[in-house]
Amino acid sequence: MPRIAGAVPRMLGRFSILQLRFPEPAMVEFAKYADDLSRDRNPYHHHQDMKFALAYKMNQSLDTVLRGSEVSTQERDDARYLLQTMERMRDGLEEPAVLIINGFPVDSKESLLSTPSDPTGYDPDKKEDRGKEGFVTECAMLAFNTAIHQDVVTNPNVQGGLFTHHLSPRKGMSGVASNAGAGFFPVHIEGTHLPTEEMVDGLTLTALKNSRSPTIYVPIMMIEQKLREELGERFDMLLEPRFKFVAGVAYNTNSDSGVIEPMIYTDDKGNIVRWRMNANLDKVSPADPKDKEAGEVIVKVAEVLESLKQEVVLQYGDFLRINNATGAAHSRAPIHPQDSNPNDPTNNRHLLRQQTMRSDPERQSQDPKSDGISVQSAEGISIDQPTQSK
Ligand SMILES: [Fe+2]
Repeated sequence: MPRIAGAVPRMLGRFSILQLRFPEPAMVEFAKYADDLSRDRNPYHHHQDMKFALAYKMNQSLDTVLRGSEVSTQERDDARYLLQTMERMRDGLEEPAVLIINGFPVDSKESLLSTPSDPTGYDPDKKEDRGKEGFVTECAMLAFNTAIHQDVVTNPNVQGGLFTHHLSPRKGMSGVASNAGAGFFPVHIEGTHLPTEEMVDGLTLTALKNSRSPTIYVPIMMIEQKLREELGERFDMLLEPRFKFVAGVAYNTNSDSGVIEPMIYTDDKGNIVRWRMNANLDKVSPADPKDKEAGEVIVKVAEVLESLKQEVVLQYGDFLRINNATGAAHSRAPIHPQDSNPNDPTNNRHLLRQQTMRSDPERQSQDPKSDGISVQSAEGISIDQPTQSK
């Protein structure tokens, strides 16, 4: 990636929410390339082979706009901000709590299909089942995440190990809180029931057909500030392994499994390097059932998480990345009826795509924040939303 000088990304608010735009000429060029490439190779099966070519093409498309003469000043600035941010994220110099990119390359609206009649499967080889003709969205997410040195995390327990998850309510499951249902999720960090080395570092979403349903995030800076106020001296309890986190009944694995861990991890210098929090009280309890103080802290944390919710309604072509380690907790509001209307075959599917990511080893070795904590395990799992077993 080229070095970009002299541009300052736009920060929204005080909490490191960064909003950028993917310039349209680069979007068009990348989408065409991804569409052509994925005609021969299905990225659900070949993403490891395709990711570097895709990342290179995304950078090249943006660089062409940056250096082009036939583009507007705005488009050139957008390319510059985006390239600079990707470069800084890749080098571990910048980690926006929440990053939003408008105008991200996605499949054309014409290629979106209506909800399949089979509510159980997600077969990426069947376009009816994946909900669209092609793979531009998957390719674009893979390109961006690879460019910032993140590796996609797959899990056989979640949607049969698909590298991109489909978040959309399925027929007959609208009351369920899962990535196949429309129900409400409490605020959480992704993967609280997993061993630390298997938790994900980045959670990325792309909207294809969403008009009203909010995605919720809670910046950790806000959480930390409020928890320090509310807990006082008991804040330090969060650093102690006094909490048991379990997967919850909806996860397609052994729900007895779980971990006993702290909610906050620090490095040698006392800097916080990872959080583990869940407002879903089915998923966290005191490690010692008699530890009343830990129970009180768990309830207070859940109250704080739910009290600080901020919403964004992702629309067609919006990409969102959450820094899952130190950036933000997240959840989803119930899906709006307009986004799951069974009477409208072209608008009956809330189409978000999700990839969960982990920092790759090369990046980790450069990242001073990663001292004392291993996030390199390649095997393992990602996501605390339940699966559709096939
Ligand atoms: Fe989640």
